[in-house]
Amino acid sequence: QAGLKYFGSATDSPGQRERAGYEDKYAQYDQIMWKSGEFGLTTPTNGQKWLFTEPERGVFNFTEGDIVTNLARKHGFMQRCHALVWHSQLAPWVESTEWTPEELRQVIVNHITHVAGYYKGKCYAWDVVNEALNEDGTYRESVFYKVLGEDYIKLAFETAAKVDPHAKLYYNDYNLESPSAKTEGAKRIVKMLKDAGIRIDGVGLQAHLVAESHPTLDEHIDAIKGFTELGVEVALTELDIRLSIPANATNLAQQREAYKNVVGACVQVRGCIGVEIWDFYDPFSWVPATFPGQGAPLLWFEDFSKHPAYDGVVEALTNR
Ligand code: G3I
Repeated sequence: QAGLKYFGSATDSPGQRERAGYEDKYAQYDQIMWKSGEFGLTTPTNGQKWLFTEPERGVFNFTEGDIVTNLARKHGFMQRCHALVWHSQLAPWVESTEWTPEELRQVIVNHITHVAGYYKGKCYAWDVVNEALNEDGTYRESVFYKVLGEDYIKLAFETAAKVDPHAKLYYNDYNLESPSAKTEGAKRIVKMLKDAGIRIDGVGLQAHLVAESHPTLDEHIDAIKGFTELGVEVALTELDIRLSIPANATNLAQQREAYKNVVGACVQVRGCIGVEIWDFYDPFSWVPATFPGQGAPLLWFEDFSKHPAYDGVVEALTNR
């Protein structure tokens, strides 16, 4: 694991897994996930999101999040916790109400107080605000932004800092892995919080990449340094690299290089502290449901053999 604090894999609670009918694979899956020594950190891919944790106003439910959190503790894993304020997988009541700014502030504070409070001490890091940006670096028109403007981001970080003083507080987004208008937007968020004296500790680069058109090592390094130079840590938080299925020798080689580049960049930049893949087993990836015709984005195939990209990751971690 080189100079990194962890190499992890997210996992879902069984009832939420992307493909049903795989129950006979769980024993082998669990063995690799928890007992093989491949991973040292995890994240529930769904269970800590607003839809699950506060499905009705003031009614909190930690059943799904606890399934993964309890396994993580049982097996001595670190945990990244995900995600407190996000426009997606939001409970419908948050979006369907006409809030005054003061009401919505209370809703955000109450949500973070209960959820981050419940998991206090169990999270290495929290994704406090997730995916607040459009591709051009402007703010996404979420319910939070429409009612509160960028103040909702300040409020979320301020509240999380009070509730869990020891968790690292992250801004997390996709398409931040090479320099772009969006990386500038994310830097703007970091500076805004720091200028206001509000704690932000890290930027999460989700790293949902594409094998056939991946960035170079140097592009990744530039993007990561752009953040670490602002005095925050960086992590690859949801790494997966999809390809056009079926997988073949060509796109698997591209995928291997893409994994090696992005993990290698993290290893090479001081301040990039960890890598997490967004599950490790292809059938449980979110990708095929979202991008028809694409898949096989993780490191273990359906038959539990390893992708060539696994070796690319090992080479990156060992500086080869
Ligand atoms: O809740 C139902 C459940 O009752 C049912 O049994 C199950 C059967 O398929 O479906 C469940 O809903 C699914 C939900 O995950 C929980 O499993 C939704 O259909 C599905 O769309 C949803 O997908 C998740 C997606 O976020 C939603 O945006 C993926 O599993 C999850 O991996 C994905 O993760 C996101 C990160 O949180 C943020 N960054 C992007 C990343 C990929 O989209």
